[in-house]
Amino acid sequence: MKIQRFSKIGFIMAAAGSAVGLGNIWKFPYMTGEYGGGAFVLVYLITIAFIGFSVMVAEMLIGALGRADTVTSFERLAPPGKKWWKYAGFMGFNGVIIMTFYSVVIGWILYYLFTIVTSGLPETTEEAKRAFNTLVGDQIAAQIFFHTVSVIIVGYIVYRGIKAGIERINLILMPALMVILFGLLLYAMTLDGFREALAFMFEPKWEKLNSEALIRAVGHSFFTLSLGMGAILTYAASLPKDASITQTAFIVTFMDTLIALVAGLVIFSFLFQFGAEPGQGPGLVFISLPTILHNFGTLGVIFALLFFLALAFAGVTSAISLVEPVVQYLIDRFHFTRGKAVLLISFIYWLVGIGALLSYTNSWGKVMSVGGKPLFDILEYTTDSILLPLGGFLISVFVGYLLPKSQLFAQIGREMGERAYRVWYFSVRYIAPLALLFMMLNLMGVIEL
Ligand code: PFF
Repeated sequence: MKIQRFSKIGFIMAAAGSAVGLGNIWKFPYMTGEYGGGAFVLVYLITIAFIGFSVMVAEMLIGALGRADTVTSFERLAPPGKKWWKYAGFMGFNGVIIMTFYSVVIGWILYYLFTIVTSGLPETTEEAKRAFNTLVGDQIAAQIFFHTVSVIIVGYIVYRGIKAGIERINLILMPALMVILFGLLLYAMTLDGFREALAFMFEPKWEKLNSEALIRAVGHSFFTLSLGMGAILTYAASLPKDASITQTAFIVTFMDTLIALVAGLVIFSFLFQFGAEPGQGPGLVFISLPTILHNFGTLGVIFALLFFLALAFAGVTSAISLVEPVVQYLIDRFHFTRGKAVLLISFIYWLVGIGALLSYTNSWGKVMSVGGKPLFDILEYTTDSILLPLGGFLISVFVGYLLPKSQLFAQIGREMGERAYRVWYFSVRYIAPLALLFMMLNLMGVIEL
């Protein structure tokens, strides 16, 4: 089997495309709003720097050395007698679980693009709330339709493969996304709300930081960097030969963080300009933002379209990286054609995705819930809080304890220099696994913070 290689810039854009997603533009701002701003942001930044970046280097390394799908890469690199480590490669399946609800949210975004074009923006918060709640609570057919459109777009790109699909689309959508977001930032900077947004995001209010916020910040740093499910690993199997893992991981981490901060600043500047509340949960982008933008007249409609377009771009480039690992696995291990693998996987998450969207509706909500929790939330919680940290834990243990030290030093030490290498090695061996273990045990209720 021959693995296609990315170009250097293609790899950076693809990995950044994976990292920069709904997590940055939708989830990060509303979490920051809910958990009170500055202190949450600070914890998030520290986790990214000390744990996220190290695990990203480790995950890229497994891909670059394994040069295959997730399962085969772990199997190849595991020492003799420990080949059962290949089962860690099943972390690739996390992506399919994430896709069940991720694709539904992309569907909402496409629906918003559509309605903004056809009927403009809502005039009052009441109206915006009603529109969002009706979509999520009652409009089953519309949701299924746009979820299906999202499945088809993502499936088609993955079907075209690493070079003609994934690399090409990322080379177009990522720069476009950045131009839109930085353009919106420039405008936001002219508003009075911008100062307030800066203060809200960067002045830590420690009293707001409870243990839940702390755990969510760590969990989110994994989600936002696409770690712990083999997306970065699978892409790194196609890393160009002479690319530096350290440098690439650094650029990707930096871009991801920058875009989350810019998205936050843009949204909060608009909100504060008109005195809106930051802590509104997942509806922040779907309810408050469109209402606020309505105040800007025609310009507001253009801003809203650009914003949701950027959100759609970010979502799609991440979604393809959620599907690719399992597709590559089916091709490598079971000799599927790419087309068949994409069809099978897409069908599975399309179907479960319908279950997820039904779990928020008034008519089916009860049926699609377990123990009073909607299926949507169960899927999100399981991946975000348990499976991704578990994946990150396995990656850091594998690289920190099972790969030969000489091999690590030969690659990462050469790239980073000895001193930085020591810090990285320490993080991968001790800080990352302990923090992740602690977090999982806490979430499962075994230990309390
Ligand atoms: N990093 C993406 C985001 O922030 O939206 C989500 C994601 C993509 C998570 C790919 C995990 C992954 F493997």
